[in-house]
Amino acid sequence: MSLSKKIVLLGHFGVGKTSLVRRFVDSAFSEDYIVTMGVQVKKKEVEVGGQKIKLIIWDIEGNTSISKARKSYLIGSQGFIYVYDVTRPETFENLSSEKQYLNKTFPEVPVCSVGNKSDLIDSDQKENFIRNKIFENSIFTSAKTGENVERIFLEIAKNVI
Ligand code: GTP
Repeated sequence: MSLSKKIVLLGHFGVGKTSLVRRFVDSAFSEDYIVTMGVQVKKKEVEVGGQKIKLIIWDIEGNTSISKARKSYLIGSQGFIYVYDVTRPETFENLSSEKQYLNKTFPEVPVCSVGNKSDLIDSDQKENFIRNKIFENSIFTSAKTGENVERIFLEIAKNVI
């Protein structure tokens, strides 16, 4: 029997939360932007160290601050993926304080930060991001090309067991 774990994706509007889930679950990508209203839940089973885990992935509507997200979406989460858009500074300027807020409010719950749309920056810009202290421990993804998408879900699965 597999374990079930609730994972919540958080972040500003349009950073690519829905696209990351779609890439991971359906192996698909679309350039269209359809704003998520409320929440969309998708499921996918992964295997980590021989253990099967069913990820119940909550893709919630965008918010400029986690404190504005509906508490009922966050409660019971066993892992958070905080997504920002590497091309839009307003989506990551509060990254440290947003992570602190999560660590304080949900002290037992692991948080993974993800810089999405990495296909839109060149390798020098990517290096700068990686070297920059505030982004340490971030994983850079592209829902468009699929780069590192599987990795973030496996990483969070590893952290929740
Ligand atoms: P909300 O529902 O408002 O919270 O948005 P979201 O975070 O779910 O973003 P969504 O996945 O809807 O993507 C917003 C737009 O960005 C869409 O037009 C996507 O096609 C585009 N997009 C998402 N991920 C990527 C990516 O990795 N690279 C590029 N180039 N575009 C992306």
